[in-house]
Amino acid sequence: MLSSTQTLSFSSARVSPMAEADVADVLAIERRCNSHPWSERNFRDALASGYLCLIAREAGVPCGFAVGRMLLDEAELLLIAVLPEIRRQGVATLLWNELALRLYASGARRIHLEVRQSNTGAQRFYAMRGFTIEGIRGGYYPSGTQDSRREDALLMQVALHSASAHAGDAAKE
Ligand SMILES: CC(C)(COP(=O)(O)OP(=O)(O)OC[C@H]1O[C@@H](n2cnc3c(N)ncnc32)[C@H](O)[C@@H]1OP(=O)(O)O)[C@@H](O)C(=O)NCCC(=O)NCCS
Repeated sequence: MLSSTQTLSFSSARVSPMAEADVADVLAIERRCNSHPWSERNFRDALASGYLCLIAREAGVPCGFAVGRMLLDEAELLLIAVLPEIRRQGVATLLWNELALRLYASGARRIHLEVRQSNTGAQRFYAMRGFTIEGIRGGYYPSGTQDSRREDALLMQVALHSASAHAGDAAKE
């Protein structure tokens, strides 16, 4: 895990498949990134089920991860997270590019996801990758704050094509 004194550049982080041995590191990142984090069991089940689980490292230091799964010729992005102190340095973009390439190679031609309505940063990230909003699932999430109201999910999707890893660049043009 990162110490507060470490100074690393993350623009060249390496993305590789997650292994059982990575679960403790991934869990630590997940707990810092999500108000209702996946459990260790969730990650182990995802690996055992053959979900596409990727981890990003810079100089060997785990700094982010992503989990997706295939559903016939479509896929679902279940999780993507990057340590708070190294955000906006392109790590999630590296994870997304690798995920999209691998899902496309497995036959996925569309990716769906759900995102909290209040998570405008993630929505912006997805919009830059070409995702559009396809609907709303009312009260889908438990409250992310102290109040007890449940929160709506935005349903977002993007079509994958052979150049999907560069969808974000296309969206910026
Ligand atoms: C969403 C998340 C994964 C993005 O990770 P990241 O490594 O910071 O993303 P990148 O650096 O690759 O961002 C690429 C681009 O996406 C957009 N973007 C990313 N985060 C953004 C934010 N918080 N606000 C606005 N735009 C954002 C920007 O266009 C950014 O490019 P720029 O920095 O040159 O402007 C990260 O904020 C995170 O882990 N959040 C908590 C977990 C989470 O919400 N996951 C998604 C659940 S559905």
